[in-house]
Amino acid sequence: MLNRIEELKNSFLSEINKIVTREQLEEIRNKYLSRKGLLADLFVELKDIDNEIRPQIGKSLNELKGFLQDKYQEFSNSMAIGDTAEQNLDLTLPGRKLFIGHRHPLTIVLEQIKSIFWGLGFRIEDGPEIETDYYNFEALNIPRNHPARNMQDTLYISEDVVLRTHTSPVQVRVMEAKKPPIRIIAPGRVYRRDTPDASHSPFFHQVEGLVVDKGISFADLKGVITSFAHKMFGPDIQVRFRPSFFPFTEPSAEYDIMCASCHGKGCRVCKNTGWLEISGAGMVDPNVFKAVGYDPEKYTGYAFGMGVDRIAMIKYQMDDIRLFFENDLRFLSQF
Ligand code: PHE
Repeated sequence: MLNRIEELKNSFLSEINKIVTREQLEEIRNKYLSRKGLLADLFVELKDIDNEIRPQIGKSLNELKGFLQDKYQEFSNSMAIGDTAEQNLDLTLPGRKLFIGHRHPLTIVLEQIKSIFWGLGFRIEDGPEIETDYYNFEALNIPRNHPARNMQDTLYISEDVVLRTHTSPVQVRVMEAKKPPIRIIAPGRVYRRDTPDASHSPFFHQVEGLVVDKGISFADLKGVITSFAHKMFGPDIQVRFRPSFFPFTEPSAEYDIMCASCHGKGCRVCKNTGWLEISGAGMVDPNVFKAVGYDPEKYTGYAFGMGVDRIAMIKYQMDDIRLFFENDLRFLSQF
């Protein structure tokens, strides 16, 4: 009998320690402490116990009863808090998600671009977004009244001050300040007088590249752009250069990167062409070298531009540039 008292106590303890809800607590009370419960059964059996040991067993049984009632009360009290909220603690519910900040997709892509060029030996420079006409145009071989100024719809602050229309003025600033060899990229925001739509925004982001030294050739330019494309989009992605014109490079090219979504086969992302336009590039025009006091007979160099928003749109397969600037958390929290 004493063994059974001990067993009852142990099984009661192990069950009550597992409960989560008040219903479960009530079940335990019914099972052990009600008038037809397991404890009551033991009291019934007490009648048949030998007279000699009955008082001792009775005492143990009463102790057990006190113990069970106290435990029940203890659990019942601790659950009362949950009851007032009319809610029991359900430990099986999934946890609440903590909302943490995200980096902006353009920042993510820009960091990646910077780290690729950093790995190729480029330093990072920057220049002002409010720029003079001289740096934005004149020193880049785009004189006033030159037809090439129509290529860019400029936001003028005054006759001589503009919001820079590209990052190329940083080329001039860097060359004015330093002697070759030069190997830099210059990321930053640029502005154009465009009406916003899915592929135009009045501001967007470029990364300018500039390398100047003795004996730099177009092949170096192709090599750097190609290895950038491989690191950014994958080792089998090809690059192609198409002849073009920029006043500050000669010869000039526009370059495309093979569509990473379809590998050149043609799909929705690349409008079935298999290629995605990134920006322009070329060999630095001797007139630009003259403007910064470099000897074009001694040095050659290449420059390239890169559309950061464009690269991010390709990477995340987006079809609307405005998503970057609307600050809609439903969009931003996906990155
Ligand atoms: N600045 C040019 C543009 O914004 C791109 C470019 C950069 C072209 C460097 C040639 C060399 O379109």
